[in-house]
Formats: sequence, C-alpha cells, structure tokens
Amino acid sequence: MSSDYEYLTLEEILRKTSLLKYIEQNWQPAKKLGSEYKSLCPFHDDKNPSMSINDDKGVYFCYSCKAGGNLITFIKEYKNFSSEEALDEISNFFNLRIKKIKFQNDNNTDKKNMLLKLNSSVAELFHKFLLKKSESRIALDYLQSRGFNLKDIEENQIGFAPNSWDFLTSFVKNNKEKLICLEELGLIKQKEDSKKYFDFFRNRIIFPIKNRQGSILAFAGRTIDNSNPKYLNSKESVIFSKRKALYGIDKFNNFKGKKPKFIFIVEGYTDVLMMNKVGIYNVVASMGTSLTFEHTNEIKKFADKVILNFDSDDAGLEASFKSIEPLFDNKLDVYTLNLPLKQDPCEFIKESGKDEFLKLVKNSSSIIDYFIDYSKEQYLNKEKSINSIIEDFSDKISNVGDVFNKDLMINKFISAFGISKNELQNKMITKNEKDINNEDKNNKSLDALEMALKILLENKQLRDNDIINELKGLSKNLELELLDLISNNNSFEPSDIINIANNEVSSYITEIIFSNTQIDSNEKKKIKLLNDCLIKCKLDDYKEKRRRINMKLNQKENINESTEMELLKELKKIIEEEKKLKS
Ligand code: CTP
Ligand code: MN
Repeated sequence: MSSDYEYLTLEEILRKTSLLKYIEQNWQPAKKLGSEYKSLCPFHDDKNPSMSINDDKGVYFCYSCKAGGNLITFIKEYKNFSSEEALDEISNFFNLRIKKIKFQNDNNTDKKNMLLKLNSSVAELFHKFLLKKSESRIALDYLQSRGFNLKDIEENQIGFAPNSWDFLTSFVKNNKEKLICLEELGLIKQKEDSKKYFDFFRNRIIFPIKNRQGSILAFAGRTIDNSNPKYLNSKESVIFSKRKALYGIDKFNNFKGKKPKFIFIVEGYTDVLMMNKVGIYNVVASMGTSLTFEHTNEIKKFADKVILNFDSDDAGLEASFKSIEPLFDNKLDVYTLNLPLKQDPCEFIKESGKDEFLKLVKNSSSIIDYFIDYSKEQYLNKEKSINSIIEDFSDKISNVGDVFNKDLMINKFISAFGISKNELQNKMITKNEKDINNEDKNNKSLDALEMALKILLENKQLRDNDIINELKGLSKNLELELLDLISNNNSFEPSDIINIANNEVSSYITEIIFSNTQIDSNEKKKIKLLNDCLIKCKLDDYKEKRRRINMKLNQKENINESTEMELLKELKKIIEEEKKLKS
C-alpha cells in the first residue's frame, strides 16, 4: 500500500485548497462582487461585510480592521490555532493527507481542561523545586537580589526548571497522552531524528502566565546564566494566545469591586511583580508583544484610562506609539510615563520606592503630545515622510469619539507641522466614514509606490532588479520589507509571499492586492506604468526634501548663516533635479 500521507509544500497546499470554500462553510456565506467575494469579517465586530476574498489568489483582506492573509493565517486567527493545528484543520477539511493528525475526535473543552490541569501541576512541580532543592539556590538568590522574597515567590507561584533534559518527561512517567499534551503546551519538544522528547525550559526561573480566573495558560522562563534569549515563552496553544493574554490580570481581584482610575501597562514580568509587591494591582504587562485590540478590549472592561510605562528607550517609545490605535479604538484615554535614567518600573521602585513612583505618575502626559514631538523629530531627521506621518496620525486618532478631544489633537498636530487644517483633513478619512461608505471601502487609493508594489507582486515577469533597488532607496518600513521579500523570492506568487511574511506585511500585501485601482492588463502599458510610478516616487521624494529644508530655514533662531547658505544651495540642486525628471 502506498504511504498514507502525501507530503505537500505550503505552496502546493494553497493550490489544492479553496479559501472561499473554507470561509463559507466554517464562517458564513460570501456574496459575489465582480471577481471577488465579500463577507462579514470574523475578526472584529463587523456590521457590513468588510472582508474581501479573492479565491483565485487565495487571499482575504478586511478593509476595516486590516486583517489579511491566506488560508493558513485565516484558520490560525479564526480558530486561534497554531500553524501545526491549522495544517491539521486543512487536511481534515479538504481531505488532504498532509501529516499525521493528533487528537482525532477530541472534545475541545475536555482538552482545554486537561491542558489547564496539566499546566497547574507543572507549575506546582517547578515551584516546589525552587523552594526545596539545593540545585535552585542560585535561582532563589537571584530572585532575592532582584527584591523578591519567599512570600512574593509563593504568591506568584514562581518556580525553577532544573538544568535537565528529562525533568518533565520523567514527571509524567512516559504516559503517552500526557506527553502529547506537554508537547502541545510547548513544555517538551521532540528531537528531529530520534523523536525523543526533551524539556523546553532548562535552568530557567519560571513565571506562570495566568488568565483572569487564575488558571495557568502558559509559562515564561528567564535565564539565570545570561544565555539567550533572556526570556522564553511556552508556545501558543488552544489555551494560550499571546494576542489575548495579559500578565498580572489575575490580580484584578484585589480591586474588590472598586473601579480603578486607570490601569498601568508595563513591558515585563518583573515590573508587574514589583508593583504588586508594593500594593499596586492595577497593572498588566503585554509580555514583549505589541498591544492588540483584544488586549485593550479586555482592559477597557476595568478602566477608562491607561498609563503606558514602557522602557524609556526608542524601542519602548515605538511600542507605546504602536499601542495608541488599539487603545483609542477601545475609547481609552492614553497617558505615558517615562521614568528617569531609562529605568523600568521594577528597577525604579526597588531603588526609589513606591511614593517616588506615584509622584511621577502624577506628571504623566498625554501620549499624543509625545507622538507629535517624536514625529517632528523623525521628520526633520528624514526618517519619515510627511505623508506617512499624516497617515499614521490620522490612523491613530480615527476612532477618537470625543470631538473636542480630537480637535485638540488635530490643532496640536497642524501647528507642529505648519500645515493647514484643510490639507490634513483632505487626507483623513476616518474609519467610521469608510464603514458607512461600504461600497467605497475597496478604495484604498494606492500611491505611486504602492501601485508599483502591486505590479511587482502580481507580475513575476516584471520583477526587475534595477527598478526594485531604486524603489528600495525610496521606501521604508513595510514597503521596504515587502520589496525585500519580492526580490529575495523572485518566483513567488503573492500568497506564497504571505507564507513567509510577518502579520503586518501580509496584511499590507492583501490590502494592496484588493485595492480596486485598475491596472491595464497590456504588458507594455504595465511596464510604462511601473516606470511612471518610479518617477512619481522620485518627485515625491524631492518635494519632501524641499519641505524639510523650508521647515529648517523657518526655524531661524536655530541655524547660523553658513548652514543657511548650505540649505539654500541644497534647495537649488533639488529644484534642478526635479526639472530634469519632469522633462
Ligand atoms: N521579552 C521577551 N523575550 C525576550 C526579552 C523580553 O518575551 N527575549 C519580554 C518579556 O515579557 C519581558 C519584557 O519583554 O518581561 C521586557 O523586556 P526587558 O525589559 O528586557 O525585561 P525585564 O522584564 O526588565 O526583565 P528582567 O527585569 O528580568 O531583566
Ligand atoms: Mn525591563
């Protein structure tokens, strides 16, 4: 008999399956609209169908919440599955024998309970080991040096995973079912060759990650010997999704029915633990990932305001800005607190105490003020274009419901950048307006760079290295990442590129593909359009350069005569280049 399993590559799987069929049978029927289909989006509270599906290309995109991807990402998000589980789902649904399927006919609730129970006994095991064994001495000493005593360790069930490859496997005594569960939880892994199991956490301090009810969803393990990475997380599973979990939320019981004025959002485990230790319980950590709509939606149930207290470095600042949108989308007031000397809350409280900390909290300021100052700096340093700053800003404030508040933010913005209210408002289409003009939603109007990206994505034969490189020189962030992916995977179709792209990039790819900017199918015309796009990008770039120089020239008090001369010279050169390009 031939082998039971076909070994298909991801690309082959996507060719053999139908995204539309899966969505229609697992979510709801879609309506045909031109060459595409429309359905309600399962990833946000959708009133009018906002999700487009292109079955030929095997991709979907939601115009409201920007979820986008292929069949695999859809299943992962929709069912909250790992990639492995998504493949199981595909092999079941489409009757493809892709790989061995675990847990046939399992009952999901039973399984979840079983996993939670197992996590709880593993936590107990690690915890006891930390307290009882001489091998854990260094871990205990380390925790003590960070300011955590036995009471803190008990209260948070902190544990220690010994430096052993089979601590957990021998704990479950080779019980097959439990081994499979431990693997599913990411607590043990299987060797590629011998299929032998080994422990995932070794020689690490273990922090259990709990849900609101206090059940343990997952674990984080911190190194004590400076090995990398500093923290490891057990993997996502049917009970653990990083986009939902908030470390510290189990402590919200301590509010005892009194609604807190605000919730602190911090970066790390130790920050939460230290704040809890001094009696601050209105705090959660997002554990190194950006805040999602799910996170902020949960937080909103407990307070109307948050204070972001991320590390005071560039990464921390960027993380705060990334969080603005999901926080504003949930109508939360957002403040930010930067501690002196780049300290995080854990260090600060340990050194200066709770009272000093609370004093600083009083001075925390609105996140939008920070954002505007930072954007202005980026603009003057040529790190970002005015268009992308405006786009960013309008995305961030698009769901601010309070008209007065929104107006205040807009006024601050236009005065910082010296642009008119009209100019800004022309570029700002709020998400709500997009929702109302349902028919118009497909109209992400592509700018020149995006048009070029669309042509390059959809036409493998036009992926010319010179053009790609020139475009790279004019791009940043997502666009640059996408251009890299295209040039490194010259023969990939869009849905294959999605397989190797991160979430943000794949959402961007699908957004571009679904925009209904029409591109002529005539090959010669496409080539001409691509070249025109490149020229337009260059011209836009020059225009930006001029605007920047003018902004600097206007800050007369900050520049001396020789800089002024140089700026004027630069300006002249740019104008000449522009002329050449236009002729
Ligand atoms: N993080 C992670 N993986 C890493 C580094 C960080 O998941 N390799 C997450 C953790 O949730 C961590 C948070 O990002 O708590 C903040 O990182 P960092 O400031 O480096 O860690 P601290 O919490 O300050 O850790 P410690 O105090 O133990 O050094
Ligand atoms: Mn930190």
